Amino acid sequence: DDDKDSQLKSPIVVVMGHVDTGKTKILDRIRHTSVQAREAGGITQQIGATYLTKEYIAKATARMKEQTSKPFETKLPGLLFIDTPGHESFANLRARGSSMCDIAVLVVDLMHGLEKQTLESLKMLTDRSTPFIVALNKVILIDRCLDWVADEGAPFQLTFQRQKQHTKQDFENRLSGIRTEFAEKGWNTELYFRNKNVKTDISMVPTSAITGEGIPDLLDLLIQLNEKYMRRQLRFKEKFVCTVLEVKNTIGHGTTLDVILSNGTLRKDDTIIVCGMPPQGTIITNIRALLLPSEASEMRERAEYKLVEEVHASAGVRISANGLEHAVPGAHMQIVPRNLKNSKDHAKRREEIEKLSDEVQQDYTNVCLFILLLFLMFNLKKNVMIHRCSRIYPVNNVECMSKHQPLGALEALITFLQDLKPSIPICGINIGDVHKQDVIKAGVMLDHQPEFAVILAFNVKVDPEARELARQNGVQIFTAEIIYHLEDAFNKYMKEIYD
Ligand code: GTP
Ligand code: MG
Ligand code: NA
Repeated sequence: DDDKDSQLKSPIVVVMGHVDTGKTKILDRIRHTSVQAREAGGITQQIGATYLTKEYIAKATARMKEQTSKPFETKLPGLLFIDTPGHESFANLRARGSSMCDIAVLVVDLMHGLEKQTLESLKMLTDRSTPFIVALNKVILIDRCLDWVADEGAPFQLTFQRQKQHTKQDFENRLSGIRTEFAEKGWNTELYFRNKNVKTDISMVPTSAITGEGIPDLLDLLIQLNEKYMRRQLRFKEKFVCTVLEVKNTIGHGTTLDVILSNGTLRKDDTIIVCGMPPQGTIITNIRALLLPSEASEMRERAEYKLVEEVHASAGVRISANGLEHAVPGAHMQIVPRNLKNSKDHAKRREEIEKLSDEVQQDYTNVCLFILLLFLMFNLKKNVMIHRCSRIYPVNNVECMSKHQPLGALEALITFLQDLKPSIPICGINIGDVHKQDVIKAGVMLDHQPEFAVILAFNVKVDPEARELARQNGVQIFTAEIIYHLEDAFNKYMKEIYD
């Protein structure tokens, strides 16, 4: 049994929580990077991934020696962190992130306590019975009001015991407030080093992403909990599970896929089966190169990669191959079983590939069904409004969303339009760049209410032909890279129309 244990996969740790609680900043502190500072609007709008080897974690937790005599020891190969957006618009990306993980870190702002997306995250974690710990972040803010003396990168207990009595008391007061808030929601919580019932009570780690205090404790606790309680779940299995996070261009490689491999092995000589947008449909292609991000780098950044022959779960890896232009992010990916790859039994091979193709293509159907469902909801709502208010509301054309985060971005924009007063029914939804057809479709409104021949395009390109046609016909195209900029621009436009 212990032999098998030596084959453990790296746990996937998802970082969740309300907007601006410091999720990305904590990861920046761990990585020695500044990803957060480069984010548009300082908010995360897509899922990120960072791999830390156990050697890296050993170094990052080295100062734990000043606090405990327990040596750092682990059979885990490392940890794969998934960063998620906290902005309310991105519930779907949080759901996707939490669906891939083995354990979660729920980040709570020590000064703010439980907020709206904290509760939403708690619900997601409960629904999936995902184990989690709480990071009580922004301890440094205490510094400002109550003389916290920072010790860069120190373990929490060590730095805490050196604080003045009234500083300690202030921390205890805030802690007790947050524990009460958790208790009101039915959760027992305790500081991790005071926690005697790890299986029932949620462990909390105070952290500061600015001074790095408590960060060694956070990493150490994650390793310990995974080692102690999750070995069975973390046994390496060959069953292949892989999710496409992003489809993007990489210099020298053309269109590539960023994927999270959560089970099994991916090899350079594998043939992959990828969910593709109609009319092209499923993509079956040979891997040209497997690109592994350099250690402790954020995968969504333009990082340095090294070429590898194979990679084991859990990992974030970039795949270079032909024909990936129409791949659908958010969908699962498969590989042609290796024993069938060069099989003479063509019928069996074809049958298996068809089965797997149906499986991955099902994800596109799911995306479409989801959109269709929302579309129907909106049309129903429109009818209700027309009936009640006896006036016809404008029909807009929400056409094109991020190619890289279709569900998250679509949901965000739809929620926004729904919450407007009067709410705006949508007459079309699409994923990917804006093309001529989209402008023609939106142009249908020109004969009825030309001011509402509108396209909202989030984080996608508008092709020059489409832009020219829109200019000629008078179709308005709003584009933005930050979701609330798009919302603000449209709000302003609406205001001009109604005033
Ligand atoms: P979203 O991804 O947009 O949900 O936000 P986030 O949770 O990733 O938070 P982010 O890392 O963007 O940090 C938000 C703000 O809080 C930034 O201005 C950070 O500098 C600040 N911040 C993060 N952690 C700390 C901390 O420990 N102490 C203090 N004082 N500020 C922090
Ligand atoms: Mg963030
Ligand atoms: Na932020």
